[in-house]
Amino acid sequence: MTQPWAPGSTNIDLGGKVIVVTGGSRGMGISMVHGIVAAGGRVAIIARDADRLGGIQTAAAEAGSDIRTFAGDIADPEDVKRVFADIQSVYGRIDGLVNNAGITKVGPSIDYDIADLQRILAVNVAGLFACSQAAAALMTEGGAIVNTASLSSFIGQPERAAYVASKTAVLGITRALAVEWGPLGIRVNAIAPGYIETDLTRDLLERGVISRELIEGRTPLRRFGQPDDVVGAVLFLLSPLSAFVTGATLSIDGGWLANGYIR
Ligand SMILES: NC(=O)c1ccc[n+]([C@@H]2O[C@H](COP(=O)([O-])OP(=O)(O)OC[C@H]3O[C@@H](n4cnc5c(N)ncnc54)[C@H](O)[C@@H]3O)[C@@H](O)[C@H]2O)c1
Repeated sequence: MTQPWAPGSTNIDLGGKVIVVTGGSRGMGISMVHGIVAAGGRVAIIARDADRLGGIQTAAAEAGSDIRTFAGDIADPEDVKRVFADIQSVYGRIDGLVNNAGITKVGPSIDYDIADLQRILAVNVAGLFACSQAAAALMTEGGAIVNTASLSSFIGQPERAAYVASKTAVLGITRALAVEWGPLGIRVNAIAPGYIETDLTRDLLERGVISRELIEGRTPLRRFGQPDDVVGAVLFLLSPLSAFVTGATLSIDGGWLANGYIR
């Protein structure tokens, strides 16, 4: 966690709103959690790793931060029901949901294991949808949902058909739910990060699946994104500053998608 999201450092005021962040235990998710707390929100984290969540819960209690953790697998509909029932019993209602949890697996499509494709869709698409359903049912005073799409929602990438399919679906779900739930006062938007330095990309870098030099060279802002880079967009989309924004997707990719130039 770097400095930009220290308490009081943001002008966005979430005024005690209760925000659920899936996959909030590390990577972009934990940056979002700290950003939301710094903006005056109360956070419920859902993630799989109970040990890591225990550490976050203890650190939050020591720091006096309004963060609670809930262990569960969003790909398991029963887990989603259980976890959201627990969240309801603590907070009574939900004002926002960040569907950030996501997984990937890279491999040649010719012999890609269908079970891996199904697991990716189960987490990135069905899990996101199930959490949206459960959260919307608790958004008794309206709310905002922010889905984590990807640069991969817009472009083809070799050996990533399952991930690309899942993140393309996230755009469709975002638009469909925005249209369906707009009349209920629930806004649904997405962010589309480019290459952000997290465990997910570090693993690909270390295995030589992606190259830092090539990625930074193709990115107009000439660097990898850091987890904190996505926080401002998430706060904006959760806050009343975006009160008339729904069904939209905001790219956070250093200009990658805009760049069609080569020399
Ligand atoms: N890192 C990037 O370059 C990048 C780019 C575009 C989009 N994304 C997307 O951003 C999101 C966060 O990515 P990250 O790089 O921070 O990943 P990460 O691997 O560092 O963290 C993923 C988080 O999701 C949680 N999670 C995974 N599967 C889960 C499940 N079944 N149930 C509950 N929690 C689960 C993990 O516990 C973890 O907290 C993902 O949706 C990813 O696809 C990442």
